Amino acid sequence: HDAAGERRFDELIAQDSRIEPRDWMPADYRKSLTRQISQHAHSEIIGMQPEANWITRAPSLKRKAVLMAKVQDEAGHGLYLYSAAETLGTPRDQMTEDLIAGKARYSSIFNYPVLTWADIGAIGWLVDGAAICNQVPLCRASYGPYGRAMVRICKEESFHQRQGFEILLELANGTEAQKQMAQDAVNRWYAPSLMMFGPPDEDSPNSQKSMEWNIKRFSNDELRSRFVGMMVEQIKVLGLDLPDKDVRFDEETGRWQHGPLDWNEFKEVLAGRGPCNAQRMERRREAHEDGAWVREAAAAYAEKQVLKTAQ
Ligand code: 3HC
Repeated sequence: HDAAGERRFDELIAQDSRIEPRDWMPADYRKSLTRQISQHAHSEIIGMQPEANWITRAPSLKRKAVLMAKVQDEAGHGLYLYSAAETLGTPRDQMTEDLIAGKARYSSIFNYPVLTWADIGAIGWLVDGAAICNQVPLCRASYGPYGRAMVRICKEESFHQRQGFEILLELANGTEAQKQMAQDAVNRWYAPSLMMFGPPDEDSPNSQKSMEWNIKRFSNDELRSRFVGMMVEQIKVLGLDLPDKDVRFDEETGRWQHGPLDWNEFKEVLAGRGPCNAQRMERRREAHEDGAWVREAAAAYAEKQVLKTAQ
């Protein structure tokens, strides 16, 4: 046990400073961060699937190019986050294996179907909007590699949200059928995007330690409320409605209230029984198998380089 290391760690956290990979850290700090950062990385990679399915169906070349850029960004976000997680000692292969084996979590939101082009707008506006709400405070997470990865990711996330908003705005100002399609997408993606922030605070086992360690800066409900406040303003510009008649600002708590969420549905999705869990995992396994030859070729090439320099 490293008493000096522990004192140093406690001082750094008390000063709201950064913990770096080579610093001593409690085993459960390392474990919880590996858990959160790897799940975050898995979310980015799985999140590519729902949108990638629409690249060939985009209604114009511009929309196709923008969507392709966004999906490529998500892949990059996954790689930054796997790299950040690896600094805590878990090899990337291990994290990939856990995901492929269905043993790792990824964000609930990617287990919902993307039914129309308007969904691509709703995903950009609501899902990336929620991700921004959650990720901006994470730029100040106490673990250096994670906070720094978030800074770059948040910059790209803003573009993702803007392009989603623009898709919905165009549809909302289009024909009656297009406006209805946009409203239908908002209706379906609103509640699942609120559940992205995690269970209610009273059901959030990781929150207390995560907040003590300056990883989580605001509670699940606090961020969810902030997100609702953002959506209330922006939905007016869209000329659409939020599918929630209970939205109102509570002067006492200073929080935005919203209607009840279906936490049974959330638990079902987390248990792997959501609308698209099986399909997302199947696709991820296929991609892993299809890519095996690339990994083998890269490894063989690297081996040759080592032999060459050894001669
Ligand atoms: N989906 C899946 N699992 C979730 C979840 C969700 N939306 N919300 C919570 N959970 C899980 C937690 O992982 C935890 O399980 P675990 O202990 O096995 O990991 C359990 O439910 C209880 O939740 P807690 O509130 O106790 O867990 P946390 O303190 O970790 O809070 C969190 C959950 C707010 C999601 C936090 O982990 C976090 O901030 N993670 C980083 C953000 C992230 O993962 N974002 C993914 C969004 S999608 C995305 O980024 C792609 C974007 O570019 C579109």
